[in-house]
Amino acid sequence: MELKEQIQNLAQAYFEEIRAIRRHLHQNPELSFQEFNTSNYIASILEKEGIEYERNWVKTGIVATIMGQKPSGKITAIRADIDALPIQETNEVPYKSCNDGVMHACGHDVHTASALGAALILNDLRDEWAGTIKFVFQPAEEKLPGGASLMIKEGLFERHKMQSIFGQHVQHDLPEGKVGFRPGKYMASCDEIYLTVKGKGGHGALPHNLVDPVMITAQILVALQQVVSRQAKPLTPTVLSFGRIEANGATNIIPDKVELQGTFRTYDEEWRDQAHLKITEIATGIAQSFGGNCEVDIRKGYPFVFNDEDLTEKAISWAKDYMGAENVVDLEMRPTGEDFSFYGHHIPATFYRLGVANFEKNITSSIHTSTFDIDEKALVTGAGLMAFLALKKLDS
Ligand code: NI
Repeated sequence: MELKEQIQNLAQAYFEEIRAIRRHLHQNPELSFQEFNTSNYIASILEKEGIEYERNWVKTGIVATIMGQKPSGKITAIRADIDALPIQETNEVPYKSCNDGVMHACGHDVHTASALGAALILNDLRDEWAGTIKFVFQPAEEKLPGGASLMIKEGLFERHKMQSIFGQHVQHDLPEGKVGFRPGKYMASCDEIYLTVKGKGGHGALPHNLVDPVMITAQILVALQQVVSRQAKPLTPTVLSFGRIEANGATNIIPDKVELQGTFRTYDEEWRDQAHLKITEIATGIAQSFGGNCEVDIRKGYPFVFNDEDLTEKAISWAKDYMGAENVVDLEMRPTGEDFSFYGHHIPATFYRLGVANFEKNITSSIHTSTFDIDEKALVTGAGLMAFLALKKLDS
């Protein structure tokens, strides 16, 4: 039997086991950097299967290794993030979260169950393939500075010399049975912007005696949009949004300060650094010109996700071979962030989307909502395709 067929059969055969893993994870979600029980659970499955693994990467991370029986210097990797979000689940399902206020609302339970499923399949087929596959179970995708950056800092690439890495993410509006890819730039870098505009508060009827930070803020907000519309290259998508402004005055009280919080996203590391400077110059310059000042605190988040073109084009053709061309779609660029990006700035990486929607069953809620759920049949593809891509990469 062809290897592809063997993987497809095993993915089906392991469906209930993979679903049980997903449900266990879903019921027992843990927040970023606190995934201790999750880590124990992943280790217990690897242990049971006799798969070699290392613990204590960034405390809760795990790197597992499966070597094919035939020798080869080739090493590829599969990454799954393991953390959950601070959201109270409102789905009434048998596998509803048991941890109040914590929920796998971003599908990381699906990513982890799929990676473990791929490990079960690849371990069974060890006699059939050559090379080494690493499984990176990574903590804290949802929280800066991101588990990926910390695992890399702890020496991931020095201790495990992987030459490429695959990651997948659920997509709530793509039907189960389909996957999506995008070569090149895919997701945006994301930085948090905190501005504190300071003036001199007082009675709203006597503005000539004051330095009004509310008016300064208005000028800054409008002027900063020119970073996006006039300074960014038209071919480099850029977003600057402010979602929180706090001016704690009243109808007749001008406050001493105004605080703003926003997000900056783009797809070019050089421009990202320049834009940070521009934002700082404009905000402080405008505040000073009106007699106030502005403190600027930019917290750098994740870099943009770059999908290695060659690896991704190959992965697209392998995915078409595995599941039929009609089930492999092209993705648009997506200005959300993802710490998988850190891997791709070191080694060839590809991050693709796993369809988990089912429109007939009304499973369409977005990620990061209290009603997010998946059609669990997606786990068959989640595990099987990942295993197939890894083996095709080793074989290429
Ligand atoms: Ni996520």
